[in-house]
Amino acid sequence: MNQVTTESQQRERIRIQIYDTADEASCTLAREIAELIRARAKAGRSVVLGLATGGTPVRLYRELIRMHREEGLSFANVVTFNLDEYHGLPREHSQSYWRFMHEQLFDHIDIPASAINVPDGMVPRAEVFAWCRAYEQKIKDAGGIDLQVLGIGRTGHIGFNEPGSGADSRTRLVTLDSMTRRDAARDFIGEANVPRHAITMGVGSILDARRIVLLSWGGAKARVVADAAEKPPSEALPASFLQQHGDVTFHVDRASASELTRIKLPWLVGPVEWTPAISRRAVVWLSRQVKKPVLKLLDDDYTEHGMTDLLTEQGPAYILNIRIFNELQHTITGWPGGKPDADDTHRPERAAPHPKRVLVLSPEPSDDVIGMGGTIRRLVEQGHQVTVACQTSGNLGVPDEEAASYADFMIELEDSDAKGASNTFVRKIRQQLDEKSAFDIDPPELRRFKGALRREEERAAVRACGVTKENSVFLDLPFYEQGRYRQFRIGDADVDAVVALLRKIEPHQIFATGASEDPSSLPAICFSVLRQALEKTRGDAWRRDCRVWIYRGASGIWDIAEIDMAVPMSPMELSAKIQSICHHKSQRSQTPARSQQAGEAWQQAEQHNQSVARAYDEFGLANYEAIEPFRQWME
Ligand code: F6R
Repeated sequence: MNQVTTESQQRERIRIQIYDTADEASCTLAREIAELIRARAKAGRSVVLGLATGGTPVRLYRELIRMHREEGLSFANVVTFNLDEYHGLPREHSQSYWRFMHEQLFDHIDIPASAINVPDGMVPRAEVFAWCRAYEQKIKDAGGIDLQVLGIGRTGHIGFNEPGSGADSRTRLVTLDSMTRRDAARDFIGEANVPRHAITMGVGSILDARRIVLLSWGGAKARVVADAAEKPPSEALPASFLQQHGDVTFHVDRASASELTRIKLPWLVGPVEWTPAISRRAVVWLSRQVKKPVLKLLDDDYTEHGMTDLLTEQGPAYILNIRIFNELQHTITGWPGGKPDADDTHRPERAAPHPKRVLVLSPEPSDDVIGMGGTIRRLVEQGHQVTVACQTSGNLGVPDEEAASYADFMIELEDSDAKGASNTFVRKIRQQLDEKSAFDIDPPELRRFKGALRREEERAAVRACGVTKENSVFLDLPFYEQGRYRQFRIGDADVDAVVALLRKIEPHQIFATGASEDPSSLPAICFSVLRQALEKTRGDAWRRDCRVWIYRGASGIWDIAEIDMAVPMSPMELSAKIQSICHHKSQRSQTPARSQQAGEAWQQAEQHNQSVARAYDEFGLANYEAIEPFRQWME
């Protein structure tokens, strides 16, 4: 069942279906599940589903709920087994998978409570082994899993089977990988709060399912999806063991498919149409493969790497090399808003008008300076009217201790001033902090307080880039203020707020992020709000003269072949950027040891910008200290 059917898929040892959107893919799986449930119900039998948590299956669960409400799909004959649970978290904990499953699915359908099985995070250590065996036995007694839904972690884990997990591993207690804990840090408001252990079904337990469907969205998972499907199975990447199962399908969106050989390096698996984009990608890849700068690539290098037809069409090598060299050279500019009065034929941004009205959208405070702090500063220095707008307040990302120390500071000030009127608001905040535990949902006042804290950090950060207080805007979009991670839902009010801002500024340039990230991530949701706002303003006159640039977010892989504008930074500019990121104090790691491990946002930004500069250098272009990359977005 797993064998692939077309030449271009020859490297894939697993059937992979690529969809334009995560919604489409989720609906396809929802339909498959619904058919299975209905067929079994007709035959008077039950269905056993294996379920996953995390951001990935949220859309699938929403569609199943919709089918239940609108199409009468009943779950009365369904039994479920969840893959995993954090060890040490009680059911009621806001981040427990038990609670996640109830909030995202079970509370909204007619599944009997007795048919729901989620590993128990509170089993005492000494009893875990016996408990896990009993869980496996229960799956067997239920008839085995008919259909197992999986997500995939950036470590290549399925369930919580981290690298090192064998193909025959069974349900057990595991230690979480540091990357997995970092990925969960946002949910737990800091990595230090993420549990270190979990109970998970093993790879072997998963492979026992009769059918397996793995879902993956966003560019951050692209590498691991390609490796799982194309590399020989190995414990280094547990998802690769899925190749050993006879009936597995991966449903992925375009961003998650982007590292598959047939998409990324299609000339290796069959004839291709050598479009400018593919030619550029191929030459960049070849230069890296043979470790030579582009201008030194020989005809033989091309022919030995399956690119003879590219040479025939566009060669010889030295002509092709020079052309691609020039193309990449032209992406580099110290004038991100366009160079006034200069010939802009080969520049990424047009010269006129100058100055430009520029709108930088930041999903949360800090995304802007992390992604493009150097470029914001350049734009301001070069005379453009730069407005930086935070789409959300980011208040969910502020740890309680941080809020408490600000509240204490304010109370202390008041107390030391005998004449000071008692600020009841701050005292109320202090009381709320005292009364809640770290994972209780924050009351509205506390969210406001935390939001104000992030506003001040943001103002300081963008001020360091030259942006005035008046040009630092906070939209506090309602979907965020009224929601929580994984529960956000965009409404008209969100889109209208961005439409109003666009119409007020009428920008010549918009800088945004999140275009190819996991759709459940905050940057992707914020980008979706922008996209809808652009849709609504399509007919406006200013739109004819407006370009949208995407800056890179915290995750995802950008090959230099995909960069449309590269803004270099000197060592001094890079340290100025780092300083502005550091103004976001509430986002710094809470544990000093962590900062040694390159986990801080500023360290990641520095490393990323330097690695882009290195890639340009290795390709044979200029050797800069660091580069901020951008892609032009086409509607
Ligand atoms: C969750 C699970 C994990 C997730 C994976 C991806 O039950 O088993 O393997 O599927 O970590 O997480 P998200 O979907 O949040 O990217």
